[in-house]
This record gives sequence, C-alpha cells and structure tokens, in this order.
Amino acid sequence: MTKPVVFVTRQVASEAIEYVKEAAEVEVWEEDRPCPREILLQKAEQADGLLTMLTERVDEELLSRARKLKVVANMAVGYDNIDVPAAKKRGIHITNTPDVLTEATADLAFALLMAAGRRITEANRFLLAGEWKSWSPTLLAGQNIYHTTLGIIGMGRIGEAVARRAKGFGMRILYHNRRRRPEAELEVGAQYRELDDLLRQADYVVMLTPLTPDTAKMIGEREFSLMKPTSVFVNVSRGGTVDEEALYRALVEKKIWAAGLDVFQKEPVPPDHPFLTLPNVVALPHIGSATYQTRMEMAKLAAANIRAVLEGKEPVTPV
Ligand code: DGY
Repeated sequence: MTKPVVFVTRQVASEAIEYVKEAAEVEVWEEDRPCPREILLQKAEQADGLLTMLTERVDEELLSRARKLKVVANMAVGYDNIDVPAAKKRGIHITNTPDVLTEATADLAFALLMAAGRRITEANRFLLAGEWKSWSPTLLAGQNIYHTTLGIIGMGRIGEAVARRAKGFGMRILYHNRRRRPEAELEVGAQYRELDDLLRQADYVVMLTPLTPDTAKMIGEREFSLMKPTSVFVNVSRGGTVDEEALYRALVEKKIWAAGLDVFQKEPVPPDHPFLTLPNVVALPHIGSATYQTRMEMAKLAAANIRAVLEGKEPVTPV
C-alpha cells in the first residue's frame, strides 16, 4: 500500500518529523523562510496531510486544489490563517496546538507588560546610546505594576495563566470575554466587566482574544479614548484585533501611556514601521510561544494530530 504524503512547511523538531515518518512519506520545506505560495499550492495538491505555520494561508484556492487532503495541522493555537468552514465542507480536519504554549505565551505577555510599564527597552537604548550622564529622580520613570489593575480581553487558557502571574504582583484582575467564565473567576479571582468598564478601570490591558470576523479591529479610536492616560496596552493575540492607526494616534497623542506589541496586522513589520519610531512602544517579532521547549511540544502535538487522522482516528486537538 502506498504511504500517505505529508508536507511540512517549515523545519520543526526532528522528533515530530520522525513520528510522522512512521506513517507517511514526509517532505519538509527546508529553507528558513515561508514556502512560496505557488510551491505550497503544488505540494498541497499531492498531500494527504499538511503541517502548517501561521504564515501559510489555507484558503479556498488551496483547498480546492488539494483533492487528497485529509488534515491540516497548524502549529499554532490561532488558526485565522485557515478557512475552517471551507475545510470542514470538504471533510478536511483542522487542528491547532492549544495548552502546550499557554505558559510560554503568558510569560511573554507578562514580559511585555513589564517592559512597556517600566520602559525597559527604552532604558536599554538610552544606555547603549551613551545618554546616561547622571542619576536623576525622574530618569526613565515608568508606571507601577505591583497593586495595579489588569484587564484581560479574551479569558481563555492563556488569559488565566496571565492572571495567575498577575496575582503574584498583587494585581486586581478584571476580564472581558464572549461568555462569562465562573471557573476563572473562582480560580484566579478575576472579575467580569463589560468591555468599556474594563478599559476605563485597567492600568494594563492585555489583548488575548483570537482574531475572528467578530473581533477584527475590536479595539479602536473609541476604545483607546476610554483608557487611562497612564495605561499600557499589550497585544499578544493577533494584530488584526486592533485598529493599528488608532493605536498609533493614541500613543502619539498620549491617550494611553505605552504599548507592548508582539503581533501586527501585517507581519513582518518593516524597520520603518510607524510603531517602531515611538519610544513608548515595545515591539517584538511575534515570539509569544517561542521557547525551545514549547516549540518542541507544539511540533509534537501537530505531528500527533496528523498521524491520528492518517490512521483513521480522531485528531487530538481539533479546531
Ligand atoms: C499561536 O500559536 O497562535 C501563536 O501566535 C504562535 O506562536
């Protein structure tokens, strides 16, 4: 019997590749850049399974050409790069990698919150530029973190993990979510708020909601104008959840105090991107889950999902 064919769109942990190889012919895109669209389309035509990254667009065009395709295992918890209804219509399984990246992503969210609140990257640039001439009582003064109020938008697993960290900092924790989460309220002492109330009360707003048609640009001009002038906005979900022009204006006009951004509407951002010109922005190149251990676990989970489907079983973490 001929083995199924799997295309892996980036070099991932060899343990994961070996695991898929026990059940399939595996081809890996070896270059350290996303696989060009035309090659991806050709590979998809031959594939029973695709192991994709968030950089690959799995849309109607790709799916209509991928006649043999049974599973797309996205190595990310987010799956806004995939047209899920179009895949389901064709009986193609879509999977993601929840849980394994929760703690690493929460760590990064908290690191951004702290870096933006305490001006860490700005202070580092100041030092490197030789500008430190003397100690001063106001030099690079930032905002308190301890005993302030955190507002989490999108209270899923990562939100809860951020809240656990915030508890250690004595923070009051507010959250807004599509539906109320009594378990989270009990577990981490988070209090539910309508979005506007959360924005008015929070010193730190952390955006964790997935990007869907309902959440696209859900934070814009009006929302930023509700926030405190001393507040910090952190985005570790997807750039598309925020109106970036409104965020830029809010930062320039000091409607909010700073931002920590790991994600952008269009990635990668060029070095002359407007956000990168602002001292009160800490910007990172979408590294939320980027630890060696986590990326290994994500690859292994994506591999387990592919193999399960190819062996006729239910995927481990279906979308
Ligand atoms: C995800 O998993 O969705 C992250 O954004 C990728 O690290």
